[in-house]
Amino acid sequence: MKNDNQNGSVCWESPSNIAFIKYWGKKGNQLPCNPSISMSLKHSITRTQLNYFPKKSNKRIHFEFDGNTQPIFEKRIAQFIDSLVNHSPFIADFEFNISSKNTFPHSAGIASSASAMSALALCLCSAEKNITGKKLEEQEYFQKASFIARLGSGSASRSIYGGYAAWGQTNAFSKASNNYAVPFSQYTHPVFHDYQDTILMISAKQKLVSSTAGHQLMNNHPYANARYSQAFSNFERLLGILRSGDLDAFVELIENEALSLHALMMNSSPSFILLKPNTLAAIKSIRQFRTDTKIPVCFTIDAGPNIHLLYPKSEKEEIIAFIDSELKSLLENGKYLLDETGNGPQKIIIE
Ligand code: PMV
Repeated sequence: MKNDNQNGSVCWESPSNIAFIKYWGKKGNQLPCNPSISMSLKHSITRTQLNYFPKKSNKRIHFEFDGNTQPIFEKRIAQFIDSLVNHSPFIADFEFNISSKNTFPHSAGIASSASAMSALALCLCSAEKNITGKKLEEQEYFQKASFIARLGSGSASRSIYGGYAAWGQTNAFSKASNNYAVPFSQYTHPVFHDYQDTILMISAKQKLVSSTAGHQLMNNHPYANARYSQAFSNFERLLGILRSGDLDAFVELIENEALSLHALMMNSSPSFILLKPNTLAAIKSIRQFRTDTKIPVCFTIDAGPNIHLLYPKSEKEEIIAFIDSELKSLLENGKYLLDETGNGPQKIIIE
């Protein structure tokens, strides 16, 4: 393939997401052991610009984060892009300058690999379209982007869609696939259309366990099969809850998922306790507040100590007052981040 003069630039912003049913355990080439479903965020975004030009040197991938070179990320991204040649053959003949930045702080309990890998996947798909001239229908385009994002980081497959996205094959949802995520928003009750996620920063320290190492803990885990069947059944129940808007059932299920993830980490070999004393204090306070006020606020937690507080938009004022009076003293520098359901990735036109 001769690609003279095929220089160009593409840019995407893509959000992080918070999983309601957790993906924990994988098989084969980044395939999930159970279906998961998440809400894409609005303000926790990675913006990635990819400049492409015909290959001139052996070092084909140049990566900057926040304007600085990042050799460790660069190596991971180079390996990832090299691994995509079978799916996107144009890659073999090009060199890429990639620059990326996040709108949210590092280690804030927000999955940066989801936003970063989905933004990069979308850039690569746009570059492929520009270079080859091959047009895909919108649905096929996003499906390919989700497929590519999944190979970078499983949860990133879900960030390709705004609102809610499901990933992982299951009889409960015939459109779902192990290979890519699919949108679920069109089936959700209006209360979920502007659901709030406030991230309580219990600790901003680096994670003790990477998600790669975390998924590996499920290989030979004594509870692996029980977990996978719990996740399939929780997933099916959650689809019903998202359709009906039954918030009491939602609260119970979401907290069960979060604590199941941490229970699995605690009794893995090696074992990890990622919850901090202040995480537990906040959980206690959230549950007490819910009992006292009957406001359907609940928590979920990923592989770290920070809490995602989930609640309907109509309760926002009361919840912020609750955080300020009861939870703030448990947070590092009193910090929390207000986020909510977002509309998904956006292509940025570069001037
Ligand atoms: O996509 P990964 O490999 O970073 O794994 C994500 C794992 C969790 O965030 C804990 C759960 C999930 O489904 O997002």
